[in-house]
Parts: sequence; structure tokens; C-alpha cells
Amino acid sequence: MDVFDAVGMRKSTRGFKPDQIPVSVLKDILETALWTPSWGNTQPWEIYVAGGKTADQIRTGLAAKLLGDEPKCPDLKMPETWPEEHTRRYMNVAKDLFGAMGVARDDADQRQAHYVNMFQGFGAPVFIYVGIHQDLGHYSIMDCGALLQTICLLAQSRGVSSCILAALCRYPEVVRAFLPIPEDHRIVMAVALGYEAAEAPANRFRSSREPADKGIRWSID
Ligand SMILES: Cc1cc2nc3c(=O)[nH]c(=O)nc-3n(C[C@H](O)[C@H](O)[C@H](O)COP(=O)(O)O)c2cc1C
Repeated sequence: MDVFDAVGMRKSTRGFKPDQIPVSVLKDILETALWTPSWGNTQPWEIYVAGGKTADQIRTGLAAKLLGDEPKCPDLKMPETWPEEHTRRYMNVAKDLFGAMGVARDDADQRQAHYVNMFQGFGAPVFIYVGIHQDLGHYSIMDCGALLQTICLLAQSRGVSSCILAALCRYPEVVRAFLPIPEDHRIVMAVALGYEAAEAPANRFRSSREPADKGIRWSID
């Protein structure tokens, strides 16, 4: 698959079939993703693959914490406030996603069901967690972001759908219980991988982008 096609076709998939991804396909994706650039070729990432029983234990643990209304304490703190323009965008994405799913604004039960599903990785058979040593900073986090997008694009080119999911990282103690993540490492982010369940209502949704001339300033003369 041409890389332009992979970028155009990738989207956050929010409903997966239970079908397993062959280990050979996962290896192909992850080993190729190691060619992601990083500052000074530091390759700061640690990659943890959770599938089978491990993924199920993580999803069960995360959902239990969410349903128990336990405080979320991700290793990588989520900003509490965003600039107005960004707030508008993330609120729009939620509104449009629930709209595409046919979930009304005041339907608290359906919304909660969606969030529980999200904390379960939308049924994906595999979660890839990316961590770094706690002493590393912004540059290494940026490198992890590049790695995650490389994983998503390579997955796409193998017919594997993806969703980068902060939700999978919001109760790190659950993740640590099932993956060999050292205490002095931070969980940066996770991506769910699997085969798209085309009939899942959430997969009707496709996000939008600001017009190109809003974000790209050309100074080339
Ligand atoms: C760092 C990061 C964390 C994300 N966490 C979540 C999440 O917890 N739940 C979710 O439904 N989507 C999550 N997403 C997906 C974004 O909502 C999605 O990328 C964005 O709306 C653009 O849509 P697209 O990926 O379909 O192009 C996350 C994406 C990124 C990059």
C-alpha cells in the first residue's frame, strides 16, 4: 500500500472483531516500526505487546476501575485545560462521534457504555504499550509519538486497524499488574490493534480536519 493511501485510510477504529492478529504480522509491523526516527537515534521507547489473556486481564481491570469511579492517575499527566480552539475541536469530535452512533446528548447510560467499551480497548485483540524511562523528557515523548504513528500506518498497510488510546493508560497500576513495566518507567501511550468490526456504530464516524491554509503557513519565495 502506498504511504499516502495508508495515511488517508487510517482512522481511529472504535470497534474490533475478536479475530487474533497473526504473530508474524505483528512482528512485521513492530520490527519495521523500530526504523522510526528518534532524537540522536536514542530509540528511547520500550514496547510491550499485550494479547490473549493478558489483554483481557487489562481490559477487565481497567473497566472495573472506571465503573468503580476510581481516580485516574496516568503516568503521563493529561492537561486539565486546553486553549479555547482546541477545546472546541475535542468537544466537536465527541459530539460528532456520539451523533454518528445515534447516542443522544442526554443518554447517560449509552455514553457510559461507550466509555466502558473504550477502557476495554473497543474489543481489540492486541494492545501495544509504549513506555520510557522516567528521567526522559519531551524529546523522547515526541519520539514515542512518531513510533505510534508509524505502527498505525504499517498496521494499516497490512489491513490491521488501530486506535491510539490514552484511556488504556489512565490506570497504570492495572497495566503494570500484567506487563513487565519497571517502576522507574512511565507508560506514555497505548495503541489498540485489530480487525475493524465494520458494523460497529462508532466506526461510521470519520473525523475532520481544519482547512490546510489554516495550519500551514508558506514562506517559500
Ligand atoms: C495521544 C492520543 C490519545 C488518544 N486517546 C484516545 C482515547 O482515549 N479514546 C478515543 O476514543 N480516542 C483517542 N484518540 C484518538 C483521537 O480521538 C483521534 O486520533 C482524533 O479524533 C482524530 O481522528 P482519527 O484518528 O480518526 O483521524 C487518541 C489519539 C491520540 C493521538
